[in-house]
Amino acid sequence: MSVIRSVISGTGSYLPKNILTNSDLENKVDTTDEWIIERTGIKQRHIASDEQVTSDLAVEAALKALESANMSADDIDLIVLATSTPDQTFPSTATTVQRKLGITKGAAFDVQAVCSGFIYALNTADNFVKAGQAQNVLVIGAEIFSRILDWDDRTTCVLFGDGAGAAILSAEKGSGNSDDRGILAARIHSDGRYNDLLYVDGGVSSTGTVGHLRMKGREVFRHAVVNLAAVVGEVLEDCDMITDDIDWIVPHQANKRILDGTARKLKISPDKVVITVHKHANTSAASIPLALDEAVRDGRITLGQIVILEAMGGGFTWGACLLRW
Ligand code: UT7
Repeated sequence: MSVIRSVISGTGSYLPKNILTNSDLENKVDTTDEWIIERTGIKQRHIASDEQVTSDLAVEAALKALESANMSADDIDLIVLATSTPDQTFPSTATTVQRKLGITKGAAFDVQAVCSGFIYALNTADNFVKAGQAQNVLVIGAEIFSRILDWDDRTTCVLFGDGAGAAILSAEKGSGNSDDRGILAARIHSDGRYNDLLYVDGGVSSTGTVGHLRMKGREVFRHAVVNLAAVVGEVLEDCDMITDDIDWIVPHQANKRILDGTARKLKISPDKVVITVHKHANTSAASIPLALDEAVRDGRITLGQIVILEAMGGGFTWGACLLRW
């Protein structure tokens, strides 16, 4: 049986030039480089310049993804952009990216699932491709979390950074079995009962302000490992695969201890987990495509391998995507 598959035909990423190290943070709040490294694995984060907005970061990542796919902006007929830190309340950051890339056809919209945003965006884009409604989708995760951090709160400000990553999903014919290239399974979940464990204390219709990020870190951590291991199990089961079939896991980069804990729970070797959190901290929706782009460009991820992307974030939201590269 012939089916349409979404194949990743290009990836790109961008980190702002300005680097804020753990030592720099020691001068701002009561923290230490040792504490941050031991509890999170984070060594530094990139911070956008005052002139940059989220769509600027997104465009930089998108241009690199287009180049790696050997495509021009004109080939794109849908943009799905995941962010919790949009340029404006409206229009969507996706339509701003569309304008900046000079694209005047197709459609563009944002999705908001905080740190799971890229998985939600990828899953949405995949459904458009499979339904025959899009040929080449630009999927972006882009964030400037530095603008919603309380820089006096040591329990959160050391954890996040700014960045963007992009992937292009292209429609290709497949045979309908798990030997096909492209996305083979995707699952997304949410449970709003946990709204108050990770949130921003402001909003358009509530306070009329942007607000600051608040998190009960220990409880988020506990849920993260359980939910992530469970959803990876779901996509494996969807494809009749087992943990040993996985070549690479590219997780949302929040905390190295969460990545290690999830790998342990899944009984998968830590060597198969792509880790970039030490370089850019938690960049929310941008972190998976940042890590994916690195592992593709340095040659770790190669044709035919099984790759699982997974994330968990505010809401709670969580999800995973299994694909053959
Ligand atoms: O992207 C998805 C959402 N986010 C996450 O996945 C993050 C999930 N949570 C985490 O990564 C971890 O829970 C944290 C990194 C946030 C915290 O690590 P933890 O091991 O859970 O530490 P904790 O919150 O239990 O705090 C331990 C101690 C506390 O002191 P007391 O109460 O034991 O005296 C904190 O006040 O560490 C203290 N602490 C700090 N000390 C130095 C908290 N932040 C800092 C800091 N520097 N920056």
